[in-house]
Amino acid sequence: MRLGFYCALFAAMTAGNMALAHGDVAPQPVDTDALPDVGEEWLIENPYRGLGEDTWAEAIKIGDSGYNQNCARCHGLGVVSGGLAPDLRYLEAEEYGDEWYIERFREGYTQNGITKMPAFGDLLGQKAAWAIRTYIETRPDDGALDDHSERLKQIRDQLAAMADGADGDTNALQAELTEIAGTIETGSGAPVADSVALRAALLISGDTPDFAEAAEQLTIGLSAAQ
Ligand code: HEC
Repeated sequence: MRLGFYCALFAAMTAGNMALAHGDVAPQPVDTDALPDVGEEWLIENPYRGLGEDTWAEAIKIGDSGYNQNCARCHGLGVVSGGLAPDLRYLEAEEYGDEWYIERFREGYTQNGITKMPAFGDLLGQKAAWAIRTYIETRPDDGALDDHSERLKQIRDQLAAMADGADGDTNALQAELTEIAGTIETGSGAPVADSVALRAALLISGDTPDFAEAAEQLTIGLSAAQ
């Protein structure tokens, strides 16, 4: 599932990072300047959930990078666990799940004197913590795209043609992608999944629709779902 997308992401990263599946890799700083401040005191509920679409989308983008640099080597690319550490997609997207999440994020986990998970709290800070949380909780559930993959392939082909100058009804495609995106569920119970259908819909909305990038996102998402 969706592995291709993250493999592509990871191709840009050092092979060394991939090989080290333990707690001795320096945490990678996360640039959170674009996100609203949430104060000094540690919160126990995700402040970026339900803060409006722009903040939410920004948190996902920053969390995507933060997660894939700091957490993926143990918890799996795209939050799909390979078994080394728990699959975080199913941590409930409400206060109970958040409280558990933030405790682990801040303190890490040590068993019999061995660090199984490093503590990230002081190093990455609260804004990065909740951005990563937002990314995690918006992952689509396993197989969530399956019912739509045929139609999404057709849309992908059409968008690729439109990128080359072919005519097409942008509004209708955007509406259809949005509708498909609305049916895709998260594993965490968060109401909206950050799926390739949603990403493609956003890429072709507005004054400067990017058909090529929307087609590319769908290609990546569909090949990952094979
Ligand atoms: C070196 C490997 C490693 C890294 C890196 C790592 N974790 Fe973990 N994480 C683990 C292990 C192992 C556990 C299971 C600990 C336990 O048994 O409770 C865990 C548990 C968790 C849990 C509790 C999950 C549950 O279902 O109980 C959360 C939340 C979590 N990690 C978040 C993160 C986040 C966010 C990052 C990145 C900022 C991260 N982890 C990076 C190894 C890692």
